[in-house]
Amino acid sequence: MSTLQILQDHHHIVGRARELTALLACVRAERHVLLEGPVGVGKTAIARAVADALGRGLVRVDGDGRYSEARLVGQFDPPMVLERGYVPEAFRPGPLVRAMQEGAVLLLNELNRMPEGVQNVLLPALDEGLVYVPHYGAVRAAPGFLVLATQNPAEFVATADLSEALLDRFELVRLDYQGADEEAQIVRQEARCAPSEAIIREAVNITRATRADARFRRGASVRAAVAIADLAAQLDGDVSRAAELALPTRVELVEERSGDLQALLDELKKKSSPMSTATPR
Ligand SMILES: Nc1ncnc2c1ncn2[C@@H]1O[C@H](COP(=O)(O)OP(=O)(O)OP(=O)(O)O)[C@@H](O)[C@H]1O
Ligand SMILES: [Mg+2]
Repeated sequence: MSTLQILQDHHHIVGRARELTALLACVRAERHVLLEGPVGVGKTAIARAVADALGRGLVRVDGDGRYSEARLVGQFDPPMVLERGYVPEAFRPGPLVRAMQEGAVLLLNELNRMPEGVQNVLLPALDEGLVYVPHYGAVRAAPGFLVLATQNPAEFVATADLSEALLDRFELVRLDYQGADEEAQIVRQEARCAPSEAIIREAVNITRATRADARFRRGASVRAAVAIADLAAQLDGDVSRAAELALPTRVELVEERSGDLQALLDELKKKSSPMSTATPR
């Protein structure tokens, strides 16, 4: 069985044959990969599945503007240093050093939100598999060490760009939204409340409609469709009510006027109901 099939059959990744093939080629060529795509397209799920399928550990870091170099690399335990000095046992490895020592996959979520200092520490780790830690020494990456970074495209969130130097060390795999059938399959497998097929279809359609309609600055991901389907299953199949609960937190309108979203959702619901022939892209 090919690794692609294993990812799809055993790790429950729906579709994505093209993207997974590209990602696996990068991994086999020992290249680090930047997974780029909007919220909820499966970046984390794919990274986790790839690490599992390759039998490598996964060390996960969620980036934000306050994430520090010391946190990424590791820190000395001050009381132990006072007592015994900078002995190796006093060093508490951070995710980067841990992943390097274990030959694991380091998943850096939202790398572009991390401060420049953190991005700079990564440069030698990425191209030479080497990090120098003061008082501890040089850390060399064990075979298998691989960085998978993620970023949302700039228009979705106010994020900084990655430096040119950092980008130069990554191959890019883009993930866009999937087709309606694949999204329905994702909802089917992710939902916890056993929604009917009709509910699944409606939940997927209304979610997709928020992406196709120009009145939305930001549409919702398949995560919203899963939530709508589960909620509707708990609300006697009332997909409209479920969408009212699930979508306000997940979409952004071009013109934010209170009351508008509700009317818009009713309209989308009508258009995307199974009775209608309109098929939102
Ligand atoms: N192709 C897919 N196959 C199986 N499940 C998927 C797929 N795409 C997305 N999912 C599911 O959809 C949900 C969102 O995916 P995930 O968390 O991986 O997205 P993400 O791109 O990491 O989102 P974020 O940008 O918010 O971090 C998860 O429950 C995930 O399992
Ligand atoms: Mg994620």
